[in-house]
Amino acid sequence: MISMASHEDLIEDNLLLPHEINNQRNRKVKATFLHKIKAFFVKNWKIILLLFVILLLISCTIIIPISILKDKTKNISSQCDEYGKKIVETALKGTEAYSRLATMCTLFGNRLSGTQALENTIDWIQEQMINDGLENVHTDNVSVTHWVRGNEYAHMTAPYYKKLNMLGLGGSISTGGINITAQVIVVNSFDELDQVQSQVPGKIVLFNAVFTNYSSTVQYRASGAVAAAKYGAVASLIRSVTPYSLGTPHTGGMYYQDGVKQIPAAALTLEDSDLIQGLVNFNKSVTIQLYMEAQTLPNAISRNVMGQITGSEYPDQVVVIGGHIDSWDVGQGAMDDGGGVMVSWEAVRLIKALGIKPKRTIRVVAWTNEENGAAGGQNYAALYKNETFFSIETDGGATTPLGFSVTSSSKTLSALSTIAEHVLKPIGSTSVTEGEVGTDNSFLVDQGVPGAQLVTNMTQYFWFHHSEGDAIDKMDPVQMDQCVGTMAAMALCIANFNGNLP
Ligand SMILES: *[C@@H]1O[C@H](CO)[C@@H](O)[C@H](O)[C@H]1NC(C)=O
Ligand SMILES: *[C@@H]1O[C@H](CO)[C@@H](O)[C@H](O)[C@H]1NC(C)=O
Ligand SMILES: *[C@@H]1O[C@H](CO)[C@@H](O)[C@H](O)[C@H]1NC(C)=O
Ligand SMILES: *[C@@H]1O[C@H](CO)[C@@H](O)[C@H](O)[C@H]1NC(C)=O
Ligand SMILES: *[C@@H]1O[C@H](CO)[C@@H](O)[C@H](O)[C@H]1NC(C)=O
Ligand SMILES: *[C@@H]1O[C@H](CO)[C@@H](O)[C@H](O)[C@H]1NC(C)=O
Repeated sequence: MISMASHEDLIEDNLLLPHEINNQRNRKVKATFLHKIKAFFVKNWKIILLLFVILLLISCTIIIPISILKDKTKNISSQCDEYGKKIVETALKGTEAYSRLATMCTLFGNRLSGTQALENTIDWIQEQMINDGLENVHTDNVSVTHWVRGNEYAHMTAPYYKKLNMLGLGGSISTGGINITAQVIVVNSFDELDQVQSQVPGKIVLFNAVFTNYSSTVQYRASGAVAAAKYGAVASLIRSVTPYSLGTPHTGGMYYQDGVKQIPAAALTLEDSDLIQGLVNFNKSVTIQLYMEAQTLPNAISRNVMGQITGSEYPDQVVVIGGHIDSWDVGQGAMDDGGGVMVSWEAVRLIKALGIKPKRTIRVVAWTNEENGAAGGQNYAALYKNETFFSIETDGGATTPLGFSVTSSSKTLSALSTIAEHVLKPIGSTSVTEGEVGTDNSFLVDQGVPGAQLVTNMTQYFWFHHSEGDAIDKMDPVQMDQCVGTMAAMALCIANFNGNLP
């Protein structure tokens, strides 16, 4: 190779044509230069090939993905990038969410629709929102169910006496001023009830359905009374809808059906349900005495309460974040859903405290009456669907946030997923999947508004849900701060989204 190159060198020198003589010196240098490059290529082709391959690899692994990412993040505004990260960082240093929840739970207690406690809490929130400097703070009247529990109890009177911890179900009627005393028939499912229907008349049915998941097991709470009454039962009892128990019954909504006799309905503890089942398995006749004063009064007036940071560019496009302020009449409604209201409210307060001016309006809403009517969510959607850009509800307990479940177009879902990956990594709440959006949100989302629900770790949620156990001691300040950061950063990034949601 080397000797051939020197031979070529000679030939080229000899090939200079006459008209080129003037430039001979230059040409000679150029020719020599070109020749050297050629020689270099020939000489080092292996290294050059290697360099080429390396370049190719770099472009595939770095340059192309970056340009794809750039395309994916084109709707993520620079404000989202800068402030989203700042919000997360600040929230993780500690927020007021927990202490405000503790204050609310301590000063007002639980907040069933129709109670003065609920209205006092709403007044307090409205006042605090004004103190926080939120704008357009106001309430809207909502006509709500007014169910009252009254005095109630249940005893097992045979084969031996035992006081039963019980809670009447929301919406239930009373026992009509008397003790209902009747033999119990235990079933584990609606199918089993069908099989023993001839034995049901005059008895109290106990649905002892072991918790599998909420949506499935809650059917016995919601419609057990109707199923039992169709076969002539005098009352309906359920095993509380929870996977775990320390002797606490769990209440919740139940519904009657037109044309089916209304019978009283209540929940027993897991312990007592299993005890009764055990006695029946030993062929013992179990008798229960049930007394309930529950009644539904004429509707009461409650209110949705809300406040906002008005958008700087699109004030008429509203990103809603919220939870429900009412609760059942047991415990403190700390998890369900005081925590959800507090983290949504604190998220807006945090954005404001950082001096961030979102392009679209970010509004915190505390819906009323979610538990026994959802009139608050319905009222809100009827009034404000016109201006809702996106709506996020949190009603699954303000525990460790994992991400969002979303109902929207698949492109919007993927945009939210990109946002989450972009700003929520420090919290770990980056999971964005298609799914349920929550009861209050459903009235907006059913009309085509895109929406989401904060997804949290619900491992222990139903242990306390709708029971005396749902109190402030179950809440964790650090987890609540993580929820605040997640809600605030996502709300801001949606409020500052470049263009319409795809
Ligand atoms: C809201 O309800 C209250 C009674 O609770 C009533 O005094 C007030 O006028 C109502 N406001 C509106 C705007 O209807
Ligand atoms: C119901 O039973 C209780 C005892 O468990 C008794 O004290 C009460 O007087 C009874 N009520 C009626 C209305 O019979
Ligand atoms: C809930 O449990 C039922 C059984 O009770 C099961 O059929 C259903 O698939 C479960 N649903 C979910 C979402 O896991
Ligand atoms: C209960 O009664 C059934 C049917 O009479 C019988 O087969 C069963 O052995 C009895 N169980 C016990 C624990 O006595
Ligand atoms: C939407 O409707 C509400 C209630 O009627 C009204 O206050 C609000 O100004 C409307 N928003 C827009 C953008 O029209
Ligand atoms: C959820 O919480 C439980 C305890 O309540 C814990 O064991 C589990 O690791 C948590 N899971 C996630 C994904 O955070």
